[in-house]
Amino acid sequence: MSASAVHGPDALRADMVRALRDQDAITSEPVAAAFAAVPRHRFAPNAPLELAYDLHRTVPVKKDEHGLDISVMSAAHLQAVMLEQADIQPGMKVLEIGSGGYNAALIQELVGSDGSVTTADIDRDIVDRARLCLDAAGYGQVNTVLADGEAGVPGGAPYDRIMVTAAAWDIPPSWIGELAEKGRLVVPLTVRGTTRSIAFDRDDEGLISHSYRLARFVPMQGEGAAKERKALLRDGVAVQTDDVRVRLNAEALNHALDTPRLERWSDAAYDLPDELELYLTLQLSSPARLYASKDLVESGLVEASALLGVPVLVNENSIAYRTRRENGDTGGFESGVVAHGPQAEALADQYVDLLRHWAHNHRRRGAATIRYLPGSAPSPLSQSTVLKRHGVVAVSWH
Ligand SMILES: C[S@@+](CC[C@H](N)C(=O)[O-])C[C@H]1O[C@@H](n2cnc3c(N)ncnc32)[C@H](O)[C@@H]1O
Repeated sequence: MSASAVHGPDALRADMVRALRDQDAITSEPVAAAFAAVPRHRFAPNAPLELAYDLHRTVPVKKDEHGLDISVMSAAHLQAVMLEQADIQPGMKVLEIGSGGYNAALIQELVGSDGSVTTADIDRDIVDRARLCLDAAGYGQVNTVLADGEAGVPGGAPYDRIMVTAAAWDIPPSWIGELAEKGRLVVPLTVRGTTRSIAFDRDDEGLISHSYRLARFVPMQGEGAAKERKALLRDGVAVQTDDVRVRLNAEALNHALDTPRLERWSDAAYDLPDELELYLTLQLSSPARLYASKDLVESGLVEASALLGVPVLVNENSIAYRTRRENGDTGGFESGVVAHGPQAEALADQYVDLLRHWAHNHRRRGAATIRYLPGSAPSPLSQSTVLKRHGVVAVSWH
C-alpha cells in the first residue's frame, strides 16, 4: 500500500516538516509554520501525493521541445533552505522572480496580512497556472505578474527581499536598484558553471554574501540567459565554459583522452565536496567544466566525478580534472587528479597544488565571502574575480 493511501496530505505534510527540521533545512519556527500551513499538493494537482511531499524531488511543470525542464515546483528542501537564508519578517514587501505559486504562498505566510508578495514569471502558462493554484489554495492576495525578471518589477519597488528561483548568470542593475536599503537578495547565482544560492546584503560597494548553499535550478530564460560554449569531444564527453578567454580545441582535447592517463594524489582528504568545488571553480586558471555520460564513465575512460560536471583545467592539447579514491587509513576519501595529453604533468601539478592548498587553508563550511560589484571591471582581474555583464563577482577565502 502506498504512503498516501495510509496518510492523507495533512499527515504527509506533517512528516515533511519534521524531516525538513531533522535535516536542518528548516531552522526557525516561522518557516516551519509556513510549511505546515500551505497545502503543497494543491500546487501540484496532477502529481502523486508522495512526489508532491518528497523532500528532495522537484515536480515537473513544463518542458521545452527537447524534453528538458523549464519550470518545476522546486524541491521542498531547497525552498526551506532559501527561505531561511532570506530571513523574511512579518510586514515585509517581497518580490519572487520565477513563479509556481507554492513558494509565493509560503512567503505570504511569512509576511502575514501586513506584508505583500509579488511573483513574476516570463512564461504566460506559468503565471496563469500560479494564479489558479494560489486562488484555489486561498492565497488570492499574492500578485502575479508576467515579466522577464531581468528588468525586475519596478511598480512595487523597493522590496525588503527579492528571491530568485531560476539559476541566474548575472545580477542585473534592476535587482540591486529595487532592493530596499537594508534589503536582502537571495539568488541561485551561476559562477563558471557552478550554482550556489547566495543571500546577498547591500554594502557600500554593491552586495556581500551573508550565506551560500548548494542549489540546482532550471536556468533563467530571456535577456539575462547564460551564454555558454560547449565543445563536444566525442559522444558522451563535453567541456563547457562561459569564459571568453578559455580556448576549447575539441579535436585536440579528444585526442588527449586517448593518451595514457596520469594520476596524481594529494594526500588530502576529500570531503565537503560542495565547498571544494566552489574553490576549484574559482581558482582554476582556465575555468571550465567536464561532463561525461554514464556509459563513458562505466567504460573507464572518464571518472565518475564528471557525471554531474567537474571543474576541469584545459589548455590547447591537455586536460586535468578532479577525482577521488578511498583512503584506507581514515575510511574516508582522498582527492586526486586525472590528466591526459602532452602537458598532463604540468596541468596535474597545478591542479593538485590547489587541492592541497584548499585542504590546508580553507577546508570548512562558509570559507568564501562572495561580493558582487556592479559596474565596470577592475583591471587586471585577479584569479578570484569573475567578469559578468553588469559587474564582477569577487571571492575571498578565509
Ligand atoms: C524552478 S521554477 C520556479 C519555482 C517556483 N518558485 C515554486 O514555487 O516552486 C523557475 C521559473 O523561472 C521562470 N523563469 C525563467 N526565466 C525567467 C525570467 N527571466 N524572468 C522570470 N521568470 C523566469 C521559469 O519560467 C520557471 O517557471
